[in-house]
Amino acid sequence: MDQAIELQDYLRVISKYKWLIMFCTMLCVATALFVTANMTPIYESSIQLLVNQSQSYAAGYPSAADAYQSILMSERLAKTYSQMIQSRSTANKIIEKTGVSLTPAELINKINAEPIRDTQLIKVTVEDENPARARLIANATGEVFKKTVEDIELNGLSKKSRPLISITVVEPAITPSAPIKPKPVLNLVLALFIGLASSTGLAFLLNYLDTTIKDTDEAERISGLISLGQIPVIPKGKELIVKAGPRSTAAEAFRMLKTNLQYINFDSTIRTVVVTSAGAGEGKTLFSANLAAVIALSGHRVLAVSCDLRKPRLHQVFGLSNDVGLANILIGAVSLDAAIQETEIERLDLIASGPAAPNPADLLESARMQLFLEEAQRRYDFIILDTPPAILVTDALVLVSRSDGVILLARSAVTTKHAFLALRGALKKVNARVLGFSLNAVSSKHRYGYYKYYRYYGQGQKSYLESASAKAKGERISA
Ligand SMILES: Nc1ncnc2c1ncn2[C@@H]1O[C@H](COP(=O)(O)OP(=O)(O)OP(=O)(O)O)[C@@H](O)[C@H]1O
Ligand SMILES: [Mg+2]
Repeated sequence: MDQAIELQDYLRVISKYKWLIMFCTMLCVATALFVTANMTPIYESSIQLLVNQSQSYAAGYPSAADAYQSILMSERLAKTYSQMIQSRSTANKIIEKTGVSLTPAELINKINAEPIRDTQLIKVTVEDENPARARLIANATGEVFKKTVEDIELNGLSKKSRPLISITVVEPAITPSAPIKPKPVLNLVLALFIGLASSTGLAFLLNYLDTTIKDTDEAERISGLISLGQIPVIPKGKELIVKAGPRSTAAEAFRMLKTNLQYINFDSTIRTVVVTSAGAGEGKTLFSANLAAVIALSGHRVLAVSCDLRKPRLHQVFGLSNDVGLANILIGAVSLDAAIQETEIERLDLIASGPAAPNPADLLESARMQLFLEEAQRRYDFIILDTPPAILVTDALVLVSRSDGVILLARSAVTTKHAFLALRGALKKVNARVLGFSLNAVSSKHRYGYYKYYRYYGQGQKSYLESASAKAKGERISA
C-alpha cells in the first residue's frame, strides 16, 4: 500500500510537470538533431600489418620453445611498432609520399595504430573527412612503415644478409562507403535519454522546492487535523455557488461539508463558527458565504457576519451594501436590527462590515462584540464569522475564544505548509476548538488523490466518518 502511494506520488509529480518534461526532452532531441546534421562526416579506412620474425636455428629446425619465444617476441615488437607508426618521422614520410596538405601533428591525430591482442598483427586506422584520402593515407602508412623497418633491419648488415624482422601488409585499405561519425540514431537515443532524465530530475527538484499544500491527504498528514471536505474551483461569476449552481460539484462539496459538520455537532453545541486561514485571498469570504447559505438552505436560521473590518467583501458575494454593519454596532451607533440585511436566500441574513474602523482588533475584543454575539445566538441557529488573514492580523484569534469552533481554510497550491502549521500552532495556543480544515479551490488534477477508486462520493471527498476512522486506525502522522 505504501509503495503504491509512493508510486502514485511520483506519477503525480511527473503528470504535474509533464509539459516541462516534454519541452526539455524535445529541446534536447532538437539540439542533437541540429548538431548531428551540422557535423562533418568522418570516414575510416584501415590496414593490417603482420610482424614477421624469421630466425636461423642452429639445429636447422626450430624447437617448440624456440617457436613460442619467437611469437612472444613478435607480439612485443607489434606493441613497439604501433608506437613508431604514430611518430613524427613516419608522419613526415607519409606526407612526402602522398603529398597531403597536413602538418605532421594533424596527420598523427588521424592515425591510430594498435596491436591486435594475442597476435602478431597491428591494425592501423585512419580517420578523415575524405574517404579516398583516408584510404590513401592508410595504404601509405603501411608502405612507409614497411620500408622503415627494412631500413632498420638492414642497417649494419651485409648486402647478402636477410633481415630478421619484416612487415607484411596482410590487409590493404579500401575506400569506405559510409561514414563512421556522426551516428544519428545513437545521438537521438542519447539525447532522448539525457533529456528525459534531466527534465524529470528538474521536475522533482521543482516539486521539492514547492512547499504549498496540494491535496487534502497531505494536509491531513502534516497537520493531524481532520478534513471537513475539499472545495473545488468555483467558476468565475458564481461566487455564491450553492445558489448560483446548486447542481455543481462545488455546491455538492459544500453540502457534504455541512453533513460532516453535523456529525461533529451531534450534540448541537457548535453554533458560532469562525472561518479563518493563514494568508490573504485563500477564500475565507467565499467559503463563509457558501457555508452560511448551505446551512440556511437546509432549514436553519443563519447569520453571516463579516468580521473583516479591514477589507470588507462578504456583502459583495451576496450583492448587498456595506453602508451599515458590524463596525456601527460595535461603536454603539446602531442596533442589531438596523444592521441586519436579508439575503436572497431564505433564513440567511447578513451583517456587513460597515465603514472602515481604525482599530478593528480592539472593536472585535470589546464587550459590545460579546453582547452582539449573545443577541445573535438568541435569534439564529448558526452564526458564521468571516475573518481577515490570521497570520497577518490578530482579529481572527481574538474571535476564537468567543466562538464554539474554528474552521481552518487552506487554498490548494497557494497556502504553504509552513503557514498552515503556524496557524494551527497559534490556534492551539489560544485553546481554539478546531473543528477541522477544508482545502479550497482544489483543481481536478488534485481532487482525487489516493482515494480515487473507492471514495463513494465521486469527487474525491472523504466523509467525516471516513476521516475519523482513518484517524482511529492511526493512518495519519501527527506533525
Ligand atoms: N474555490 C474557489 N474557486 C475559485 N475561486 C475562488 C475560490 N475561493 C476563492 N476564490 C477566489 O479567490 C479570491 C479571494 O477569495 P476571498 O475573497 O473569498 O478570499 P479571502 O480569504 O476572504 O481573502 P482576504 O484574505 O483578502 O479576505 C476571489 O476572487 C474569489 O472569487
Ligand atoms: Mg475575505
